[in-house]
Amino acid sequence: MNRFKIVSIFLSVSVLSAFIVFIGQKLIPNPVPVEQVFPGKVWAKTVTQLPDLQGVGAPRAENCGKCHEEIYKEWKTSTHSQALSDLQFQAELSKTSSPKWICLNCHIPVQNQRENIVLNLNHGDYFQPIEIPNPGFDPIMQKEAITCATCHVRVDGKGASYVIGANGNTSPPHPVKIDAEALRNRCYDCHNETYELNASLVCSFQTGGELKEASKHFSEKTCVNCHLPSVQRSFVIPSLNKPKRNAHKHAFIGGGVPKKFELYKEQIPGGYKPGIALVGWEWKDSDIIVTIQNQNAGHYLPSADPERHLKLELVWFDKDGKEIAKDKIRYGQDWEWSPKARKVADNRLKPKEIRDWKAKIPNAEAVSVTLRVYHVRLTNSTSDYVKKYTTGAPKEYEDKIKELKKHYPHSSLVLESKYSWKTKKVLNTSLPDLFKLNESRRGE
Ligand code: HEC
Ligand code: HEC
Ligand code: HEC
Ligand code: HEC
Ligand code: HEC
Repeated sequence: MNRFKIVSIFLSVSVLSAFIVFIGQKLIPNPVPVEQVFPGKVWAKTVTQLPDLQGVGAPRAENCGKCHEEIYKEWKTSTHSQALSDLQFQAELSKTSSPKWICLNCHIPVQNQRENIVLNLNHGDYFQPIEIPNPGFDPIMQKEAITCATCHVRVDGKGASYVIGANGNTSPPHPVKIDAEALRNRCYDCHNETYELNASLVCSFQTGGELKEASKHFSEKTCVNCHLPSVQRSFVIPSLNKPKRNAHKHAFIGGGVPKKFELYKEQIPGGYKPGIALVGWEWKDSDIIVTIQNQNAGHYLPSADPERHLKLELVWFDKDGKEIAKDKIRYGQDWEWSPKARKVADNRLKPKEIRDWKAKIPNAEAVSVTLRVYHVRLTNSTSDYVKKYTTGAPKEYEDKIKELKKHYPHSSLVLESKYSWKTKKVLNTSLPDLFKLNESRRGE
């Protein structure tokens, strides 16, 4: 045997054994704790299993609602209570490319809500969660999604559940610890998170940072000031004879696009106020200038999900009220999703920012113009795409996803104003009238 042969046999043996070792490593389970893969990430873990709460029983919203009835009813109308049944969420969850356990950690975050728990990832790979059955699974609580306990219930050092409150000097039948800061800052865990999981899977919620940036403009310093508006009332049902206090509405109204059409009527009573406001109209030579402002949102407008945007339209009319032309602009973020997710543009309105939209009067026939502002959460094209890729969502959702426009509000008309420049007349549509109209609008 010559030297060359010996070397080549040696090489083949070592390549082969390296290959076997490599395959072996992939086949042999190698659990890596979640906190080692995502150190310090709240969404990497569920809220610890919560045992029955003294004086209440299972820490379900429906149980809290027996005494905190008004809060419960408001919360039922909120987006939070629908973070699991959300049709777009169910559609996205059914994609094989979704790391489901991570999505669920923000949308149904308490361990009681989970059939299975993920403590380890095989080889540290988030697409290989090692799922173990949860003996404490509560299917009723699962449906409650972002339930009362998400923000309010934790376990003490002795393993007993307690309620986190912000007041003190109250007399509840259940244990309470007062920690107003922790309760008010809980929002940031989910609404202020930017993380790149892989090139095309990016989580980008920056509402908390935007609020900090805006703080000089506002006396309202926390999310609670605007999204849980104050109301003087008892915390509980009248039969418990508790005094009126400074309580907070729990409808968590946001951009005015609810998850179901029947929830449009709950938006204004829940505290809805559009971020955008009309500052005024002006006529200058052959131009009309409409001035708008982000007057009410303590963050960018719109904030949160990158697909959200404001669509502004100017519709021109002749003296007979016939539509003769239309102009359109968009305020929002622009993202490119492949090959790598990245933000390419962003013209959202910063808090209190004022902008002019100058538009040419289209011709001599035009006598009036109407501004319409839509808050769009889901475009028609994304909606059609969502329908196409969805297979394998649970039956109760799948049927509705197939007719997404019929069941799922995509946008809302949030401002309408008509200007006749010759007569200087301005006619604004009231918010309640707009929200009546929204009930019957469909799509983008
Ligand atoms: C059997 C009735 C009852 C049930 C059930 C109940 N609570 Fe209460 N809770 C009360 C009463 C009474 C108070 C005190 C009201 C007062 O003194 O004005 C209270 C007070 C509170 C407070 C305010 C404490 C503070 O001082 O800031 C919070 C928060 C709270 N409850 C949350 C919950 C949650 C969450 C649940 C469900 C897991 C729940 N409660 C279930 C009766 C109940
Ligand atoms: C860090 C917490 C977090 C994680 C993880 C997370 N979400 Fe969300 N999700 C949110 C928040 C906060 C919102 C509300 C933002 C908004 O309404 O614009 C939201 C809203 C949504 C919506 C509704 C969008 C809209 O405009 O109303 C969908 C759909 C959704 N998430 C899908 C997913 C999917 C799929 C995953 C997993 C790949 C996921 N989420 C993981 C926090 C999270
Ligand atoms: C455990 C994660 C989590 C926490 C904590 C949380 N949220 Fe949310 N929030 C969400 C998710 C997820 C959605 C969207 C659900 C969907 O669209 O299906 C949402 C939706 C909202 C919306 C509705 C947006 C819209 O236009 O529909 C508002 C407003 C909101 N949250 C405010 C808050 C505030 C204020 C707090 C703190 C008091 C808070 N959230 C705490 C996860 C969370
Ligand atoms: C997304 C987080 C979140 C969820 C979900 C939530 N709360 Fe609250 N809740 C708060 C915050 C924050 C406050 C404190 C507001 C303050 O005083 O600054 C609060 C206050 C309260 C109070 C004191 C009275 C008041 O109105 O201020 C009660 C009682 C209460 N919540 C019960 C509930 C019940 C019952 C549910 C479920 C039906 C629930 N909460 C769901 C965040 C939440
Ligand atoms: C100064 C009042 C104010 C403060 C403070 C505030 N918001 Fe908002 N928020 C609004 C208004 C008004 C809207 C409705 C904007 C619109 O017209 O779409 C809104 C909308 C939202 C939306 C829906 C997306 C959108 O732009 O419509 C989410 C989610 C949200 N807020 C979360 C938060 C969270 C989380 C915090 C705290 C970090 C917070 N907000 C602080 C006033 C406020």
